[in-house]
Amino acid sequence: MTVSVLFVCLGNICRSPTADGVLRQRIAEAGWADVVRVDSAGTGDWHLGKGPDPRSTAAARERGYDLSSLRARQVSAEDFAAFDYVLAMDRSNLDALRAMCPAQYTGHLSLFLDFHPRRGADGIPEEVPDPYYGDEQGFPQVLDLVEAACDGLLAHLADRYRLPARP
Ligand code: 4NP
Repeated sequence: MTVSVLFVCLGNICRSPTADGVLRQRIAEAGWADVVRVDSAGTGDWHLGKGPDPRSTAAARERGYDLSSLRARQVSAEDFAAFDYVLAMDRSNLDALRAMCPAQYTGHLSLFLDFHPRRGADGIPEEVPDPYYGDEQGFPQVLDLVEAACDGLLAHLADRYRLPARP
């Protein structure tokens, strides 16, 4: 059995590569690398083949995540069948995904922050804000949200797929 997760943002150079790097590392630490497949993609095509934004790479490196091997790609129609979870960073990305998703796979789509452990609480947004045109502070804020939502997603996957407890 394998389960697969695709993170989606607009450019695939800031938010979704950050989520990809964080979840990938947590899965490796949990010993689930053979069971959970992780990838990321963008709804837009401006940065195809490029590595993540240096500001995202630096913010991730500060917390011990390596994004250096990731390269931007665009979401394709095949992704909806290929990935069990297609998780959008914001509503605009989710709308773009819905518009291209074959009807039988719409159940694979949701907002990533639906998995935040404190979803609905004061101060917890429903979307991961786009940091691209903002200041440096936006990047650690993305990481705060991504780390928490990855923990919630891992707990969900462990429960739903009965993954063995972490060592
Ligand atoms: P991301 O951020 O969707 O988190 O990768 C963006 C990156 C690039 C652009 C917009 C958002 N852009 O307009 O080029």
